[in-house]
Amino acid sequence: MGAVLSCLGAAAAPRPARAAPGAGGRAGLRARPARRQGASVATLLIVHHTPSPNCQALLEAVVSGAGADGIEGVDVVRRPALAATAGDVLAADAYLLGTPANLGYMSGALKHFFDQVYYPCLDATRGRPFGVYVHGGNDVTGALRAIDAVTTGLGWRRAAEAVAVTGEPDRADLERCWELGAVLAAGLVG
Ligand SMILES: Cc1cc2nc3c(=O)[nH]c(=O)nc-3n(C[C@H](O)[C@H](O)[C@H](O)COP(=O)(O)O)c2cc1C
Repeated sequence: MGAVLSCLGAAAAPRPARAAPGAGGRAGLRARPARRQGASVATLLIVHHTPSPNCQALLEAVVSGAGADGIEGVDVVRRPALAATAGDVLAADAYLLGTPANLGYMSGALKHFFDQVYYPCLDATRGRPFGVYVHGGNDVTGALRAIDAVTTGLGWRRAAEAVAVTGEPDRADLERCWELGAVLAAGLVG
């Protein structure tokens, strides 16, 4: 992971304290698409359930990392888990999942997302990279286990270590989320 970030150069150093402008904007908006003239664009789909300011801070950090300076040709698409569709999943090249831990599981919203897309996307998305961040009050183990099970079923490839945060995110937590977004996006740069 560190090697990937070093490829981005000093300009891409984590900046979680200053999230990307507009990162907290309306759900579903596309974060700064980094397009070069004539360059092909890969898509990183961020599917998230964001019910609180602490979860919002993690989302903004991953969006900021995914749009880091030096990452070009990656379109970052944000979708609330209740609005994401199988079409979004099929059209993307990599996935970043974000959820709170609820009752020892992923959120109902993210579970609903997987219920909707699992069979329509099975086979077609096998082998695609993904990453995940989970926020909880004290124990996110069950949520991580559940996401591991469903992504294993889909055949998705874990591209970065899961980020687990409990309580109010500190700077190190936000940096880990920033790095998660940067690693997923940098992995799509052709
Ligand atoms: C019904 C409910 C169940 C929850 N279950 C868990 C849980 O199993 N593990 C955990 O770590 N946090 C749990 N939480 C805490 C949420 O993950 C937390 O509220 C969410 O991540 C938002 O964080 P915040 O309240 O600090 O902003 C639960 C919260 C609610 C409302």
